[in-house]
Amino acid sequence: MKKHIVSFGGGLTPSLVDSLRNEFEVSVILKPDKDKIAFAKAIRNANGLIGGSVKLGSELLETAKHLEIISSISVGYDNYDLNYLNRRGILLTNTPDVSTETTADAGFALLMATARRVVELAEYVKQGRWQQNIDHSLYGIDVHGKRLGIVGFGRIGQAVARRGHFGFEMKISYWNRNPEAEAEKLKARFCNLDELMGDTDFICVTLPLTAETEHLIGAREFALMQPTAIFINIARGRVVDEKALVSALKHGQIGAAGLDVFEQEPLATNSPLLTMPNVVATPHIGSATQETHKAMAELAVKNLSAGLRGERPADLVNPSVWERRHRS
Ligand code: DGY
Repeated sequence: MKKHIVSFGGGLTPSLVDSLRNEFEVSVILKPDKDKIAFAKAIRNANGLIGGSVKLGSELLETAKHLEIISSISVGYDNYDLNYLNRRGILLTNTPDVSTETTADAGFALLMATARRVVELAEYVKQGRWQQNIDHSLYGIDVHGKRLGIVGFGRIGQAVARRGHFGFEMKISYWNRNPEAEAEKLKARFCNLDELMGDTDFICVTLPLTAETEHLIGAREFALMQPTAIFINIARGRVVDEKALVSALKHGQIGAAGLDVFEQEPLATNSPLLTMPNVVATPHIGSATQETHKAMAELAVKNLSAGLRGERPADLVNPSVWERRHRS
């Protein structure tokens, strides 16, 4: 009998779903948040799940008695309770590497847009307000040659730093658990978080959301920043205390923010962030390009198929589960 897969959230193209159908029985639930009953029913006899951007709580997964593997079409895996999956012996895979450069591009797009007030001034032109030379008060600030602080110097953090160093001659500082060998090529300075907050013109957050990083950046950290500093978050919203961010922006403790991620997604339409001209907000699109999403989906399919065939998937988040399964 063929193993059963549930593809959720529409992350796979019809041709990828067809390729899976050669080997597995596949149910597709495009909107698991809306089709809750159909999703819960499909999950019950699933051996594998593939999808992304949906929180799959333990309560729901408890009904999936035959589940062997979840293949997430994402780098971040904060939507899953890893302890629970480990206890149940369910493999979890993600899609690292293929989205690194694209996510760094998105970070830099936010940085540039915020510094040069691109969104605000584009609106100004569209609204027909460009009647004469614009006022000095609408000028942005330079990016080149400034100091860029990276919070979390993993693959994405390093890719942002490369753009800053090689493209814009920026001076790079970074905060990370440990110093990184790669930093030398970028002349990047390892420093503590307080120093980085106080000493940089741009701060870009790129670290994963974990119990240790939740609300890592709050009122105390914003108070350390320069009043002209620009804050970029392309990691996860909950790494930042959003109320403290709103207050820092409101009270001029920081200059502006470019945000791709939020504590609550989608962002509430009444969020104070949306009324602030010095905020550029995008809808969690760090890796969302045609090319990269295709590469992520293909990698997720490979990981899932390997796991269900009893082969070790390349991108295991919890290798201990695999090792336990294949001990002896
Ligand atoms: C990722 O890959 O983690 C992106 O943020 C999409 O969730």
